[in-house]
Amino acid sequence: MPTNTGDDAGTAATAKPEAEAERLRDYNLSQPIDPTQGEGMRRGLTSYGDAHFSLFLRKAFIKGLGYTDDSLSRPIIGVADTRSGFNPCHANIPQLLEAVRRGVQLAGGLAVEFPTISLHESFAAPTSMFLRNLMSVDTEEMIGAQPVDAVVLVGGCDKTTPAQLMGGISANKPILHLVTGPMLPGSHRGVRIGACTDCRNNWANYRAGVIDIEEIAALNEELVPSAGTCGVMGTASTMACILVALGLMPFKGATAPAVSSARLRIAEETGANAVKIIAAGNKLKPQSLLTRESFLNAITVLQAIGGSTNAVVHLMAIINRHPRIAGTITLDTFDEVGRRTPLLVDLKPSGSNYMTDFHASGGMTALLRELRLLLHLEALTVTGKTLGQELDAERLIPVPRELSCIQPFNSPLYPASSLIVLRGNLAPGGAVMKASASKDRRLLKHSGPVVVFTSSADLAARIDDENLDVTPDSVLVLQNIGPVGNPGMPEAGLIPIPRKLAARGVTDMLRVSDGRMSGTAGGTIALHVSPEAADPESVLGVVRDGDAITCDIEQRLLKIEISDEEIQRRREIRRTEIGKEGSEHPWKEREKMRGYRGLYMRSVNQADQGADFDFLQAQYRGSS
Ligand code: FES
Repeated sequence: MPTNTGDDAGTAATAKPEAEAERLRDYNLSQPIDPTQGEGMRRGLTSYGDAHFSLFLRKAFIKGLGYTDDSLSRPIIGVADTRSGFNPCHANIPQLLEAVRRGVQLAGGLAVEFPTISLHESFAAPTSMFLRNLMSVDTEEMIGAQPVDAVVLVGGCDKTTPAQLMGGISANKPILHLVTGPMLPGSHRGVRIGACTDCRNNWANYRAGVIDIEEIAALNEELVPSAGTCGVMGTASTMACILVALGLMPFKGATAPAVSSARLRIAEETGANAVKIIAAGNKLKPQSLLTRESFLNAITVLQAIGGSTNAVVHLMAIINRHPRIAGTITLDTFDEVGRRTPLLVDLKPSGSNYMTDFHASGGMTALLRELRLLLHLEALTVTGKTLGQELDAERLIPVPRELSCIQPFNSPLYPASSLIVLRGNLAPGGAVMKASASKDRRLLKHSGPVVVFTSSADLAARIDDENLDVTPDSVLVLQNIGPVGNPGMPEAGLIPIPRKLAARGVTDMLRVSDGRMSGTAGGTIALHVSPEAADPESVLGVVRDGDAITCDIEQRLLKIEISDEEIQRRREIRRTEIGKEGSEHPWKEREKMRGYRGLYMRSVNQADQGADFDFLQAQYRGSS
């Protein structure tokens, strides 16, 4: 590494010969440059047909930002910046970037920030999931294209961390995650509230006439009281815990509040770790660091925290980006792991606390220690140490039992299987249910007559119709909100309780759809039915009013009570209708759609595969 040579004319005459040779190395035509190799500024040169010229030009341009040769000779840590005026979950990113820069610099590197897409749940139409894969492509390609030796991925809102990890695994340069952290809880009438479980509960109460318009307006002021991600065990918090389990983030990184000084210290630590990771070479690149055992740890944590059902889709997409692991973990693996994993964390929507309580209870360190017997402690982390070594080294101040929201392993909140996978003739590719979030446990074994809604619009038009033929025993089915049927697979799976039943005090019904549900929501709801209703071969697509559906979680069964012959007959009728001249069915129409929407519609796979683009998965005609 050169001494600080500066650019002034007198420097060359006084510098030591070796430092001077180093300073001029990049311009020395007798020293070959391999444009596919190299580190720092020499990495991934732009193609001009002359590698020396490419490097010369690159350095000339970056010096326009005021860098010295000394700065440019350091390991370069890219920092993916996902801030946006439309993303309050990422509002603390400026402070985080400052702390990451400090950490990188203290460890001898140069931090260079670059933007990628920012996705917020409420500011992405039709839904942020429609853009997750686009963000993953953005992340992968910018990591690949730019001269970065390692990357800190700064994100937090639901789809951002999965997209970043999907892209990071595919790009396969060393990556470290830094999430923005959970927001603080708010307060209403002396009761703590927070996005987004309490958004949904209170909205349901408003719909049922339990609270009035003044009250709902007052709640609106308090549900998001600070920067940061939703403060319950929604998708963002779930993915943050999973990143720790995968070894990609420090233990406290999952839970420290967005606006805390702890969060800034984690950012500084992450910056320093990013420089250190480079010395490990290939060993800590994500395709080497992440093993099947790392993902089994992630699934164990998902089950133990009663995590978001969305995490199942995201994890399948992430796993299927990994060349050695794709295909070795399926939905059934989630169910198998769940059967031996107790629910230990009492957070909304399964329980009653907030992420700040989880942090105060010892967070992921305390949880992983409880789960120790179920974990693969030999799995590596980004520090180069194993998960077990990190767990032993972490300081943990014990929290009195009555003040902790983490249950001991042998005294769980729910004995096992907080997330389950259902199969049967209605969902041959599988469906997912968060059994721990059921509000009426009788529904976990239930058979009832179906009320079908063929789309979100149909649901909105009829769900509160006084004449709707529905009882508390009915099974509400919503079709065509799957990946292709309603691009992005919206979080509309939380089918509202019909107002006339809600007014009678009904709070839960068995509900089935091919869509997703917010991680902050609860109820007895089978989601992600695959294949989706829009698929001409789907059974969900031929369900009709009055059919009976049986759900039995003990048997992991989701079944429609009609014969195979009748299913076949209905499918044939449906295929004929879709194929008719003038039919505008999305399965057919997608062949001629333009732009990103066309790419999405033609390439997205089903939820059980991760709803990723087929051409992005590791197994797509080998790998790139
Ligand atoms: Fe960003 Fe909930 S909306 S985490």
